Amino acid sequence: MKPENMFYDMKNFASKMLLLLATTHLCYSNSSPDFFLSKTLVDITKRESQMKEQYSTDNILRYEEIFGDGFVTVGGLKRAKKMFSLLKLQAGQNVLDIGCGTGGACFYVADNYDVSALGIDCSEAMIQIAKERASRQNNGVLIDFQLADIVEKEFPEVSFDVIYSRDVLVHIFDKTKLFEKTFSWLKPGGKLLISDYCIGEGKLSEGIKTYITQRQYDMETLCRYKELLEQAGFSDVIAQDSTKEFVEELQDELKKLESIKEEYIRKYSREEYEKITTGWKNTIERCRSGEQRWGVFLATKSENWPFQIF
Ligand SMILES: C[S@@+](CC[C@H](N)C(=O)[O-])C[C@H]1O[C@@H](n2cnc3c(N)ncnc32)[C@H](O)[C@@H]1O
Repeated sequence: MKPENMFYDMKNFASKMLLLLATTHLCYSNSSPDFFLSKTLVDITKRESQMKEQYSTDNILRYEEIFGDGFVTVGGLKRAKKMFSLLKLQAGQNVLDIGCGTGGACFYVADNYDVSALGIDCSEAMIQIAKERASRQNNGVLIDFQLADIVEKEFPEVSFDVIYSRDVLVHIFDKTKLFEKTFSWLKPGGKLLISDYCIGEGKLSEGIKTYITQRQYDMETLCRYKELLEQAGFSDVIAQDSTKEFVEELQDELKKLESIKEEYIRKYSREEYEKITTGWKNTIERCRSGEQRWGVFLATKSENWPFQIF
């Protein structure tokens, strides 16, 4: 190994350890006693490799087969349309999509609302697909995709009219830091619109704890999410439990997958088919038992920010 590479490896290892210590500390201070154990077991390296596997190019294409081109999460374009309809977007505004995946929401919003869209994602595979698709478009629409970890990303203050994110923050442990950043990046009057996997308020079973640990997720209750958004400075925070709609969408997608079962097995494998259908059935079950929730959060940076007495 070259000496400079060895230095880089050591530096990388040291910074991961520091991050692990910081995360562990945060977990102790933020979580309900019932749940902190899963969070303290977080291993950052393991989390990175879990995400790489979950969002490998093969898996992305398999997800898109069900959710539609540009989408790797439940509800696909139909859900994105519903979410953006909440925002009263105006031509010329700019939208940041956190964890944009293969970019479906950016393409949709730029094409239909005449706004510019910037998608950020930490997965090389996702950004590569999104960029390829953007390069094939030649319709004057303003779209950009960048590879970055959003928690480490810097933008000037008051840069965006809207910040959007679908089912991404479950991967992000330092939500406080991210909410503080998004608050500063928004213009006064700007909106933050998020959907995410959450946990219920009650006691968690071993089943869901295992799921969270295996996936290396960080899940909060809807109330905790609201609290974190308010602490970061947001006002008019709405935290809506949309688990029922989420389950309906997931059931439709499961039916769609079942209807193309043989074709799917031929293309991928029986094992793959069983894995994905079992995973979705388990998710539906966890939602039905109340342990897993799907939250939609709308928060505003006040028009009057920064607040002044005179
Ligand atoms: C479930 S996918 C959702 C993708 C997209 N929002 C959609 O609706 O199809 C979660 C995405 O979040 C990205 N992600 C996770 N942590 C991230 C981080 N710290 N910074 C940027 N992207 C992140 C993943 O790479 C993945 O593409």
